[in-house]
Amino acid sequence: MLIDCKSISKAIDADVKERIEKLGFSPKLVAITSKPDPSTVTYLNSQAKKAKKLGIEFEVMEGSTMDELLKVISTLANDDKVHGIFLTHPLPKGIDEFELTLRIPPEKDVEGRTPYNLGMLIYEKEYFPPCTAEAAVRILENVTEIRGKNVVVVGRSVTVGKPVEIMLLKKGRDATVTVCHSKTKNLPEVTRSADALIVAAGRAKLITPDMVGEGAIVIDVGINVVDDQLVGDVDPEVEKKAQLTPVPGGVGRVTTSLLMEHVVRAAERLAGKNE
Ligand SMILES: NC(=O)c1ccc[n+]([C@@H]2O[C@H](COP(=O)([O-])OP(=O)(O)OC[C@H]3O[C@@H](n4cnc5c(N)ncnc54)[C@H](OP(=O)(O)O)[C@@H]3O)[C@@H](O)[C@H]2O)c1
Repeated sequence: MLIDCKSISKAIDADVKERIEKLGFSPKLVAITSKPDPSTVTYLNSQAKKAKKLGIEFEVMEGSTMDELLKVISTLANDDKVHGIFLTHPLPKGIDEFELTLRIPPEKDVEGRTPYNLGMLIYEKEYFPPCTAEAAVRILENVTEIRGKNVVVVGRSVTVGKPVEIMLLKKGRDATVTVCHSKTKNLPEVTRSADALIVAAGRAKLITPDMVGEGAIVIDVGINVVDDQLVGDVDPEVEKKAQLTPVPGGVGRVTTSLLMEHVVRAAERLAGKNE
């Protein structure tokens, strides 16, 4: 069975719209990029579409050298009319993504990529959790009570795997978490033991039906392009024996909605500070 992620995303969007009306002004989000590849352009177009629909101002700024990008970030960091900043990923060779991330003020880091916001997760404070990790956890919470469940996470990246693991361990959520990576032995055995499986490996159809337990919940974070088609990390056949998020229209859809929610949250905080 497919998990209905559209309704989760719609509920977030409705809340965002209501909060923007209360704010009385349009919050602004700026994406910073450098020589964007086709998938980045597609990603930016979908952000632009969603922002427009919700009443959020959206702008894309480009730089081709570290100096140019550092200047862009510094300008945006000091502009009170800009509430959220995010860097597209990946950036071209020669651009130090980590160095740029360090310059984003945590209160405008709506994608939750700075060491401050990632560090907050360890303290169980979700100031701006990384949007994709938050989307995966939000979907899982929507489908089941997480407490005490055996959740297996495939992938240990800074943007998805690690933050998902920390968020699931948070007191109150209380999952028992196993994290797998490319050196994990007997991956199918581990994944089969999961009540819920979150897959963020970036390997098309890595998870096949024989690797999933009957009735498990499977959150497919992967986005891969195969023969010009978007496919996840999970074989769609898994839907026949488990609850599965679709690709496209699953985690990605909820991630975009949460990014916009973070922009509104940033604007609310700033408005509160200025009152
Ligand atoms: N839906 C969204 O909004 C969204 C947002 C961000 C990313 N994504 C997608 O999510 C996927 C993961 O992204 P990412 O940034 O986390 O990727 P990443 O940085 O490349 O990390 C991939 C992780 O998967 C592990 N892995 C790779 N092959 C494996 C295998 N055969 N068995 C077990 N583990 C394996 C790697 O292990 P090692 O650490 O050992 O190398 C690594 O930890 C990509 O498809 C990406 O496009 C989607």
